[in-house]
Amino acid sequence: MLKIAVFVSGRGSNLQAILDAKSSGFLNVEVAAVFTDRPDSGAVERAKGNSIPVWVICKEKKSGSVSNEELSGLLGKLKIDLIVLAGFLKLVPESVIDHFENKIINIHPALLPSFGGKGMYGMNVHRAVFNSSAKITGPTVHFVDKLYDNGKIIAQRAVDISDVNSPEEIAERVLKVEHELLPFVIKKIEEGKVKTINERVVVF
Ligand code: GAR
Repeated sequence: MLKIAVFVSGRGSNLQAILDAKSSGFLNVEVAAVFTDRPDSGAVERAKGNSIPVWVICKEKKSGSVSNEELSGLLGKLKIDLIVLAGFLKLVPESVIDHFENKIINIHPALLPSFGGKGMYGMNVHRAVFNSSAKITGPTVHFVDKLYDNGKIIAQRAVDISDVNSPEEIAERVLKVEHELLPFVIKKIEEGKVKTINERVVVF
């Protein structure tokens, strides 16, 4: 069974989608740990409600939290197979990226490589999409490298927004699709159906 760690900063609806997919039998994974930079987030509440151990990440060493330096060792000790960034807004420390090459995925609420990069998270993304007058948006799941929203794209879904009146309406439509796309990609990884061939990630 795939052992996953979920990194969160926000309300945790994508974490919930993973837990629901597990409860329904769609996913055969163990959510072994939740890591956060925001101990007061809704996502942490959800993790605790599901008896999932939570660790708070802090750049420097501080009692009661895991430092960047300690993080990859701890993930190794927990025997984590896959790290899922589900609304995690910080850069993952380089040492973790080095130890977990192609084993870290992120969900982003727009069609990368557009509307990504530093500062492009949550409603900032949807506002930029709305102001651009784009007619299609949608979530992207990609591998994580050392830059924001830069790793190879695994899967995307198109969402028609030609008739929306606000960024909030875009957010609502995209989030619904995120909750399907993230468990779908985790399942494909669990089944060994995600491969990199000739520079492209192929999902079988
Ligand atoms: C999601 O929309 C996710 O795509 C986005 O944050 C939200 C978290 O919601 N992530 C980013 O913007 C990363 N660049 P959640 O806490 O309810 O899962």
